[in-house]
Amino acid sequence: MVAKGKIVWVSGPAVKADGMSDAKMYETVSVGNLNLIGEVIRLTGDVAFIQVYESTSGLKPGEPVVGTGNPLSVLLGPGIIGQIYDGIQRPLNELSKKSGAFIGRGVITTPVDMTKKYKFTPTVKVGDKIQGGDVLGTVDETQLIKHSILVPPDHPDSKLISIVNEGEYDLETEIAVTESDGKKIPLKMYHRWPVRKSRPYKQRFDPTVPLITGQRVIDTFFPIAKGGTGSIPGAFGTGKTVTLHQIAKWADSQVVVYIGCGERGNEMTEVLVEFPHLKDPNTGRPLMERTVLVANTSNMPVAAREASIYTGVTIAEYYRDMGKHVVLVADSTSRWAEALREMSGRLEEMPAEEGYPSYLASRLAEFYERAGRVSALGSPEREGSVTLVGAVSPSGGDFTEPVTTHTIRFIKTFWALDARLAYSRHYPSINWMNSYSGYLSDIAKWWSANVSDEWLHLRNEAYSILQREDTLKEIVRLLGPEALPDEEKLILEVARMIKIGILQQNSFDNVDTYCSPKKQLKLLKLMVNFYKGGQRALKEGATLPDIRAMSVIGNMLKARMEVPDDQIAKLDQIDSLMDEQFKNIMGVKVTT
Ligand SMILES: Nc1ncnc2c1ncn2[C@@H]1O[C@H](COP(=O)(O)OP(=O)(O)OP(=O)(O)O)[C@@H](O)[C@H]1O
Ligand SMILES: [Mg+2]
Repeated sequence: MVAKGKIVWVSGPAVKADGMSDAKMYETVSVGNLNLIGEVIRLTGDVAFIQVYESTSGLKPGEPVVGTGNPLSVLLGPGIIGQIYDGIQRPLNELSKKSGAFIGRGVITTPVDMTKKYKFTPTVKVGDKIQGGDVLGTVDETQLIKHSILVPPDHPDSKLISIVNEGEYDLETEIAVTESDGKKIPLKMYHRWPVRKSRPYKQRFDPTVPLITGQRVIDTFFPIAKGGTGSIPGAFGTGKTVTLHQIAKWADSQVVVYIGCGERGNEMTEVLVEFPHLKDPNTGRPLMERTVLVANTSNMPVAAREASIYTGVTIAEYYRDMGKHVVLVADSTSRWAEALREMSGRLEEMPAEEGYPSYLASRLAEFYERAGRVSALGSPEREGSVTLVGAVSPSGGDFTEPVTTHTIRFIKTFWALDARLAYSRHYPSINWMNSYSGYLSDIAKWWSANVSDEWLHLRNEAYSILQREDTLKEIVRLLGPEALPDEEKLILEVARMIKIGILQQNSFDNVDTYCSPKKQLKLLKLMVNFYKGGQRALKEGATLPDIRAMSVIGNMLKARMEVPDDQIAKLDQIDSLMDEQFKNIMGVKVTT
């Protein structure tokens, strides 16, 4: 039975309709004479509370509301990559083509071009057993993305009774037919999946593989795993967006889903204007050839912003199911939470902290739970991952507000941006004392196997220098630096070098913008060696001014910009130079 009701009340994006006893929770409905798209978000008797994804101005009580029988879903198939979608997967370009500069209402579009032909190469044959998640074949979606055509995850166990030959087909062509219990099921190159339901997988793996971002403070100090979760909270202008862009650009993932939830139009325009010009650093191709943007500009209704997170993560899971590593960045989840708050307020729900609904925490949990590195459903065996990174913009940088505190409960890597660091132009302004990563010991094995077994040890040494500096700073503040013995002054000196030579990283410098794991390790080792050498030199009679006067310090601090990844041997030369200079200031030969 299709629900057919009538509007009784309209408040902004929230609509109440009665006569809706046949409606289901989260069913999409067509609202009013303009057929606006809405979603049932609460059912009380025959009254449905509906959030409408388009402007409701002019909508009046008495107008019809008709159920569609389907939950809010996305279309999953070739053609998604490179698109810029609104929160419910409507392509913004198509929308503006159809309705001019301002997005018209009730405009019908398809998420991808259904008539575009792709060269399909089948990888299964008639007679094969077919189950949900199987790969039927592949198409080249873009120059960078080979797209696997997947059997929908909820497809019953069946047998393939026909499949097209290799050739050019559009999305509406029936490329295969399966049979299950005597029932024939046609398959196309796409299927739909409800956004609020995570896509199933075979098995979840431990987060043992790091997502390499090329950003030193992240990879070396507060790493995130593939399939992991991270959050980057920061006050206005502290560098959230720049950091997310760096991750999108450089992380060793094949697909990027960028969700822009911006209130300020200009922030969103930046993404819309900037992203299509970014180049994939590894191939030189446009980054959009492996990116999907989900954007909510300020002239879009808030309900679409609420949905955007789910639309984005469902698309991310789809590419994961092909066996790809996907990174999803959301800028900023605070704006998403505000959309939730606004809807909740309109529905006159009992507010919890700061007006947010009591289900804010569970919604955040549901979102971050969709991260993971998994073995995909069906055959052949594929491993893919969805890594989720959300910016949080607490007003005034107050990390005790609800969105930040709840987010912290569900993520494992926390990059705390610090307005004071940003103010002093220490970028990225990730505060090393307040940040943490829960993946360190999990990924240490990967570093041992792929870069060096010294990684965790060196990282911890360097980190303890920073920690000790933090404690000593307090003494210095009270008593001045002269109160400290030389060994402790050395700590201050090396901490300063770590900050300038490792933690700081200029996103806009050609060399510094990306730092390979090998180079990160060598820089780290230089710093730790310097500390060890310094300690030894002090014992052997050298003075702190001798140490400070060593010219190698300049080389070490500039190495991040002056030594490109393909000339890493230069770092070994710096290491030798350091040894030599330590020997000189001690006047004796030191064996290492
Ligand atoms: N890693 C970096 N290297 C160089 N400059 C940086 C870096 N990170 C941030 N900046 C500088 O800080 C400015 C503000 O950064 P960004 O726009 O990312 O802040 P934000 O936290 O997203 O701000 P908002 O709250 O307005 O969204 C940038 O325009 C840039 O000049
Ligand atoms: Mg920003």
